[in-house]
Amino acid sequence: MAMTSAYPAGATSGANAPGKIDFRSDTVTRPDAVMREAMMRAEVGDDVYGDDPTVNALETRAAGLLGKEAAVYCASGTQANLSAMLSHCQRGEEIIAGHGYHVLSAEAGGCAALGGIVPCAIRTGADGGLDPDDVEAAIKPDDPHYPISRLLSLENTMGGRVQSVERLNAATAVARRHGLSVHLDGARLMNASVALGVSASDLAACADTVTLCLSKGLGAPVGTVLAGPADVIARARRQRKLLGGAMRQSGVLAACGLHALDHNVTRLAEDHANARHLAEGLSELPGFEIDLESCQTNMVFARLPADNWRAILDHVDEAGVTLSRGRELRLVCHKDITSDGVEIALQAFQQAATS
Ligand SMILES: Cc1ncc(COP(=O)(O)O)c(C=O)c1O
Repeated sequence: MAMTSAYPAGATSGANAPGKIDFRSDTVTRPDAVMREAMMRAEVGDDVYGDDPTVNALETRAAGLLGKEAAVYCASGTQANLSAMLSHCQRGEEIIAGHGYHVLSAEAGGCAALGGIVPCAIRTGADGGLDPDDVEAAIKPDDPHYPISRLLSLENTMGGRVQSVERLNAATAVARRHGLSVHLDGARLMNASVALGVSASDLAACADTVTLCLSKGLGAPVGTVLAGPADVIARARRQRKLLGGAMRQSGVLAACGLHALDHNVTRLAEDHANARHLAEGLSELPGFEIDLESCQTNMVFARLPADNWRAILDHVDEAGVTLSRGRELRLVCHKDITSDGVEIALQAFQQAATS
């Protein structure tokens, strides 16, 4: 069967119109009034000259939060991951990552297309993590037939599931033994941190470089920070330029990131509680298959009944609930969905499933 779209379109046009309850992703959040005020107040300068005080403040703040020497503010998670990969690897070298990890499966093949980096996907465990034995087996011997294994790339959270420090350390220990560097795609690292009650810096300690998206659950409109050792981040800054991501008065955007770190981290627990409530409610409906085990942060994975899934989707859409269109659903809770919004969605599903 052909692969389905990684990001299917919404059910209707105007899917994220105000008033809609949009579960497609935590990327759909809009900056709220206080965040927009922070943008307005932001002091700015030309960041390519290193002159933007708000970008500099965000980079310093992110480096501290993630326990690294330095950080660089990128336009997106894709750009931050690619800047990291290009900084770690030369052409013909290999990146090892889990099957389904975003860096390999949903970033347009950038590492291979733009970096000549050879992707190697290994089995991803049920918790989204990698088994040390699988990492060991994937690392190539020093043999001219093979690419040079250079980088292990992790992801946490992965599909809404969290990996503990111990789990991350077990995989990275193998990489270290073979001289590989380690990158962590921490697009939703703060969700993992809040769910586990473990600091982001402890979760990132296993990796040389780590990304953190500000535009997902944290609610900023734009931006991902990449943090790591000062020399690697200096290289990544050059790669960001090469990728067209060096911006000028980007302090207006960085201000949103700072605001998000100040105000939108601890509240992620609300999204997790909403997701849990949604998962449990949906699991009681006839014919619905819900992966309760994987509902560890803000995502719910559901399989709708074979015979009436289209009718169910039509009904919930009419009730103002926006979902990706398909029998298998990922529903993502975020800052712009209240507990009332979850109740409305549950009621709509219930009516559709039992009518
Ligand atoms: C785990 C993960 N990493 C990276 C990205 C890329 O982020 P962006 O959409 O900002 O490029 C995403 C986007 O959804 C993601 O889910």
